[in-house]
Amino acid sequence: MATATKNKSTKKVDFDKIRKDFPLLKREMNGKPIVFLDSAASSQKPNYVLRAMDHYYKKLHANVHRGVYQLSQEATDAFEKSRRLVKEFINAPSEKECIFVRGTTEGINLVASTYGRKNLEAGDEVLISTMEHHSNIVPWQMVCEEKGAHLKVVPINEDGEMIMSEFDKLLTDKTKIVSINHISNALGTINPIREVIAKAHAKGIPVMIDGAQAIPHLKVDVQELDVDFYTFSGHKMCGPTGIGILYGKAELLNAMPPYHGGGEMIETVTFEKTTYNTLPHKFEAGTPDIAGVVGIGAAVEYMQKIGHEAIVQHEHELLEYATTELKKIDGLRIVGEAKEKASVVSFLLGNSHPYDVGTILDKLGIAVRTGHHCTQPLMARFGIPGTVRASFAFYNNKEDVDKLVEGVKRAARMLG
Ligand code: ALA
Repeated sequence: MATATKNKSTKKVDFDKIRKDFPLLKREMNGKPIVFLDSAASSQKPNYVLRAMDHYYKKLHANVHRGVYQLSQEATDAFEKSRRLVKEFINAPSEKECIFVRGTTEGINLVASTYGRKNLEAGDEVLISTMEHHSNIVPWQMVCEEKGAHLKVVPINEDGEMIMSEFDKLLTDKTKIVSINHISNALGTINPIREVIAKAHAKGIPVMIDGAQAIPHLKVDVQELDVDFYTFSGHKMCGPTGIGILYGKAELLNAMPPYHGGGEMIETVTFEKTTYNTLPHKFEAGTPDIAGVVGIGAAVEYMQKIGHEAIVQHEHELLEYATTELKKIDGLRIVGEAKEKASVVSFLLGNSHPYDVGTILDKLGIAVRTGHHCTQPLMARFGIPGTVRASFAFYNNKEDVDKLVEGVKRAARMLG
C-alpha cells in the first residue's frame, strides 16, 4: 500500500503535543479514555479554532458587508480575511472564486442545480464513479431526471480502484460534466484525479471534485490540478460544522445562474427585474455563517502551521500500522485495498454485522463509524451491508491503533 508522496526532509512535528490542543480528546467514553477514530465523519476541534470563534462572538459580531459602522467593518474584515486564507490554502487564482457554502453537499448541489440545469439537455450524460458518497450521486440524479439526462458510473475493481479503461470508454461526446471524489470516504482510495481532469479536458469536459475527504489530509492546489470545481467542508479539517468552500473557475461561475435568491446576491432589484452581484457574492445569499467562516479561516491557519507534509507522513504511518495489525486478526477482511490510500481502513469481521462490532468497540471507548457510510451503491458493488470504518487524523497515535486492534480482537472473541 502506498499513499501520497512522503518526503524525507519533512519537518519534525511533535504530534503528541498537538494532540493536547484538542480538548475533546481528554474526555472519557463509557468509563475509558476516548479513542476517536471517526474523523472521516467529522474531525475534532483544536483550541485555536474554538478561541477564534469565541473571540468573534464576544468582540466582533455584527452583520457583514452591510454596515458603515466600525463594528460591522471589523466583522467584515474577519470574514474576508478567512476567504483570503482559504484562497492561499488551495492556491486559487482569486478570492472571488472561493464561495462560502454550508459544506461539500451544498457545494455539489450548487453546481448540479446551476451549471447542471443550464448545460444539461435530454440525452446528455454526467459521469461519476461507483465509490461516490450519496451527496455526489443524488444531486446529479435530480438534475438528470429533470433534464432527461443520464448518470453514467465508472466501475471499480476488487481493490476499490476506478477502472480507468472503463472511464476512457464512458467519457464521450455526450458527457457534460465529470464529478468524482478525490478520496473515497468509505474505502480511503485516492483517485487519480490529475489523469481524470487531463482526459476530460482533452475533450473539453469540465470536472468537479468532491474534496471532503482529501482536504484534511493532502495538499490541494487547484491551479496545479487545473480543476474546474473543487468543494470541501470545514468540519472535516478541524473547523466548525455548517461551513465549507466551493472553488470554481471564474469563467464558469460567471456563466452560471445564481443558486439562492435573497439579500447580498443582488446588484439591483425592482419588481420587474433583478440584476445580480459579482463573484463571490452572487452565490452567497442571506446572512452567512460568519462565525463559521472565521472558524474555517482559523482551521486553515492551524493546519498550515503543522504543514501537510508532516500530516501526510504521520497519517501514512498510522494507516500502514493499522492495516498490518488488523490483517493479523483471523477472519478480518479489509474492504478497499487500493495502491493509493489515505486515512481510512474499512473492514468486516467474519460474518459479524458491522453494528455489533461497532457497539462492542464503543463500550471500550473506541468511536468508529459502522454501516454503509452514505455509499449504498458502493456497498452493493461489494455485496455487503456495510463495514466498520476506522479513520485517522493527525491527532491520532499508535496507541489509538493498538486499542482498536485489541478491541477488534475482543469483539472477535465475543461474536464467535
Ligand atoms: N461523509 C461523512 C462520512 O464519511 C459523514 O462519515
